[in-house]
This record gives sequence, structure tokens and C-alpha cells, in this order.
Amino acid sequence: MSDTKAGRGLARGLTNYGDPDFSVYLRNSFAASMGYSREVLQKPIVGIANSASGFNNCHRHFPELIEAVKRGVLLGGGLPIEFPTISLGEVFLNPTSLKFRNLMAMDTEEMVRAQPMDAVVLVGGCDKTVPAQLMGAASADLPAVQLVAGPMMTSRYGTERLGACTDCRRFWGKYRAGEISTEQINDIEGRLATTAGTCAVMGTASTMACIAETLGMSLPGTAAIPAVHADRLRAAEASGLAAARMIDHPIRPSEVITAKSVENAIRVLLALGGSTNAIIHLTAVAGRLGIDIGLERLNALSDETPVLVNLKPVGENYMEDFFFAGGVGAVLRELKPLLHLDTISVTGETLGDRLELDPGFVDRRVIASADAPLEPQGGLVALFGNLAPRGAILKRSAADKTLFEHEGRAVVFSSLADLAARVDDPDLDITADDIMVLQNAGPKSASGMPEAGYLPIPKKLSSKGLKDMIRISDARMSGTAFGTIVLHVTPEAAVGGTLALVRTGDRIRLSVSEKRIELLVDDAELDRRKAEWRPETVPLDQRRGYDWLYASEVLQADEGCDFGFLKARPKG
Ligand code: FES
Ligand code: MG
Repeated sequence: MSDTKAGRGLARGLTNYGDPDFSVYLRNSFAASMGYSREVLQKPIVGIANSASGFNNCHRHFPELIEAVKRGVLLGGGLPIEFPTISLGEVFLNPTSLKFRNLMAMDTEEMVRAQPMDAVVLVGGCDKTVPAQLMGAASADLPAVQLVAGPMMTSRYGTERLGACTDCRRFWGKYRAGEISTEQINDIEGRLATTAGTCAVMGTASTMACIAETLGMSLPGTAAIPAVHADRLRAAEASGLAAARMIDHPIRPSEVITAKSVENAIRVLLALGGSTNAIIHLTAVAGRLGIDIGLERLNALSDETPVLVNLKPVGENYMEDFFFAGGVGAVLRELKPLLHLDTISVTGETLGDRLELDPGFVDRRVIASADAPLEPQGGLVALFGNLAPRGAILKRSAADKTLFEHEGRAVVFSSLADLAARVDDPDLDITADDIMVLQNAGPKSASGMPEAGYLPIPKKLSSKGLKDMIRISDARMSGTAFGTIVLHVTPEAAVGGTLALVRTGDRIRLSVSEKRIELLVDDAELDRRKAEWRPETVPLDQRRGYDWLYASEVLQADEGCDFGFLKARPKG
């Protein structure tokens, strides 16, 4: 029998050869082949989940960030061991990054569980990576610290300040409307995103970073630090140290992500005027621990949570301004009377204690006080009605209020291909009062719920200066976009939801005050249409691999688009 002893970290979860001592001996031997001394291999191990990739511009600085994490782990007496997971670079994935979020969550969960580590630092940032890492960590339930990439810095075009990607859309809209030339748009293309880090506005990545901090999974004060700022490296070091400290005093994700911290996170999401995608992601993260976020509850919280943060796409400023203005801490202080203060972060500190210790700086140009908010009610609202029996989402803070109570004629596009083929047709029969409807762009559709809910305004209207009209779909919208856009209609068209039954010429009524979205067609007619309805998606027996798994297992938006088999099993 080998007298080799495995180090504390290395002995976790042995590879099974039917002889545990042999497993220890072999693991020690192979670890030694990487040049570690016996002494070092006795240390507890902090894994570092690295989601850098040549296909992810937002994670460009991860090598430097991970060096700093390692320093922190060593400082805390642990052995840092970095391992790769897949990465999801938002604009490099076909058909859409959401389709692969659950794959990354499975990768993260299984590699955290299967490899010998006592705690883990999750390093992510781009839209889907932080939700995927939080989902995986919640399910693995090993002590974990989320470290985010941090936002990009802004750039300049002439005298204008530019930040991805609200300005990407703004200039593209101008280009479509013929207001700027091809030469100009080419110039702008090279200046929109010029540093490492995530999109510079309160898009999905920034919203999820703020949510991770509010949940307590990231260190206090770290969500908004710019990617290239030295504080980001200090945050990385501190995250490594915090993870090492959790080895002797484990705090598990299931102790941090609780019904109360999830509710705090929803409050912050609403106060930020944050991304619509975040409600899907937070629902999925919470669902991993058996915590249910009902859209009715979202509405109740939204009614009493003010919008406080003046950032694009809802307001004027960028993430670097938010950082210097006080960041998440300043928002939490304003929301304090509405928050559960007994939630804990990965440091073990309660939110109440954090707010006591908080330095208290705030720049009111960027973060409003709760007494004089930007909007008295939250940025997101769920709509219900026969068109969306299980709900739909409107980002009211990014929408045109004159359209909030509106009845109009539906102009229907049956798919993304149909939309692309007809939207700019000069003969398209459409006016500004009409309501554009896109079908078959939900999670089970062939397109896998892309960010296509921001339907382009038909050229015949945009060229006359029209900037917004009501658009409805089962798709998502980029967190950096704006407009009166009803998203995530559930159930989706591909499973035969009412959305699939809408026809051009039908009347639709939107009422934000009543939180209703109604198709004004009687039930008998809808039943008749339903009987004729045939799904447009690719049948399961014609799919294979992950595409098959996704199409067969993905849940609707109101359940976070997770896979059913990944959710927490009911206790009992
Ligand atoms: Fe990565 Fe926007 S593309 S955050
Ligand atoms: Mg985005």
C-alpha cells in the first residue's frame, strides 16, 4: 500500500480505480509532474474557473485578472488552480448566446464538482457567462466567489462619447434612416468598443454584475469597477483571498442565494432600470435552489421600487460614471428601507453591516435619491392577458410613455426570416399606430430566443423620423436597447401560445397601467385558429446533440429558460 498522503485539496473526489490509495498515489504523481512541490500540494485548493476565449472580447484581460486572483489565494494560504470552461462571447455565437448558457452552466457545475477543489472563484463577465457561472455554482454548492470582468471604458467619435452598445444601436438607427453615411458608420464601428471589459452601459452584463453583488456572490463594491482600472485587479486579489478564507469557514451559495437575497436583487434590477434579460437569468439562478420568482411578485416589487440610476440605455451616463458615482453600494443605501438586511455575502458579512460600513459617497448626477427618483416605479413590468397568459415583459423605463395605453392593428411577421424579407419593403402596409408582432422567436423556436425583439422600425417609417412603435414578440431584447417593446411572451408561438394565432389586421390592446396585453379576437375564433395551427419549429426527430437537448428540455421564459432537469428537485 502506498504511504503517500494526498493533500487536503487534492484528496477531494478521487478518480475511481477501485483502489483509493492507488488513486491518491497517481494523483500526487501527476500533480507533481506539473512542478508542484509536495509542500504546496498539501494546501487546500481554490479553483479558478476561467472563461477567457479568443471569441470573447469582453474577457480579453482575464490573464492579468487571474494572476491577481492567484495572488489573493496564495495570500490566504490556498493553492490556486485555474481551469477552463467554455466561454460565451455575446456577438460571436450562432444563433444566439442564450442557447449555450445552460451548456456553460452544466460545464461549470460539473467541473467544479468533479475536480478536486475546496472553493472556487468564477471569473466571467459577458452577458451569459455570469448567469451560467452562478447557476452552475448554485447547483454545485461549493463555496464560490463571483468575480466579474468589469465594464469597458467609453470612447469618442468627434465630440461625442461612445459606449457599446446603446450607441451601436443609436448610430445604426441613424444609418438606416439615412442620417449618416457609410463612411461615417465604418468609422464609428472602429470606435464603439475599444477596451477590454463588458458593454459600457447598463446592459445585461452590467445588470448581472450588480445582481451578483446584491445577491452577495461578489465582493461588496466590485460590480462596477471598470475592467482596466487598477481597482479591478485589487478586487480580483480580494476575491481570491475571500475564496481561500472560505475553506476553513465555508459559506455555500445556498446560504447566500436565498429568497431574501433574490428579492433584494430584483429590487436592484428594478432600480437600475436594468436589462430585461436579467429577469430570465435571475429566475434561472434562483430556480437552481428551489426559489421561485413569480412575475406577479415582480410587479408588486416594481410598483414600489423607484428607478434611481441614470445610465444608458434608460438615461445618459455610462458604467464608468456609475462606478465613480458610488456604484451598487449607493443604490443599496437608497433602497435600504425596502431591503432584507440580514442576507449575507461570501464574506459572511450581512447586508445591514455592509451598509453601516459603507463610505457613503454618491454623485446625484448619476444615482438619484429615493426621495427624488428618476421614475417612481421600477424599470420592468410584467404584462398579462390572453396574448400572454403566463406573462410578458416590458421595460417601461426604456419605452415611450405615449404608447403605454394604446390599441392598434397587428402587423404580423411569422418568423425572423419573414421579418428580414419584408420589413423594409416599400409596399409594406404599416403605419406608426400599428403594432408589429414577431412570432416563432421564443426558446423552443428554431432560432432559440435571440435578441430580435427589438424589431427594426420599417424603413418607410424610420426614414420619416419615426423612432418608436409598439413591438411584441416571444424573443428577447439586448439589455442595451430601448423602445416600447413587449418581450418574452409566454407561452411562445412555437408551442402554440396565443401569439402564434395573431393575424395581420387583428386588434391588440396594450395597457401598462392595467398591466394587460390583449388580443381583441373572441375565444371561438381563437379556438378555430388553434385547431388549424401547426408548429413551425424543427421537429425533435430532425435534431441531434445539444440542439436536440435544448429544444426538448428548455423551459419557457417565466421559468428562466433553464432545462427542467437542472432545476432543484423538490425537497421531501
Ligand atoms: Fe460582452 Fe456586451 S458583448 S457584455
Ligand atoms: Mg447584451
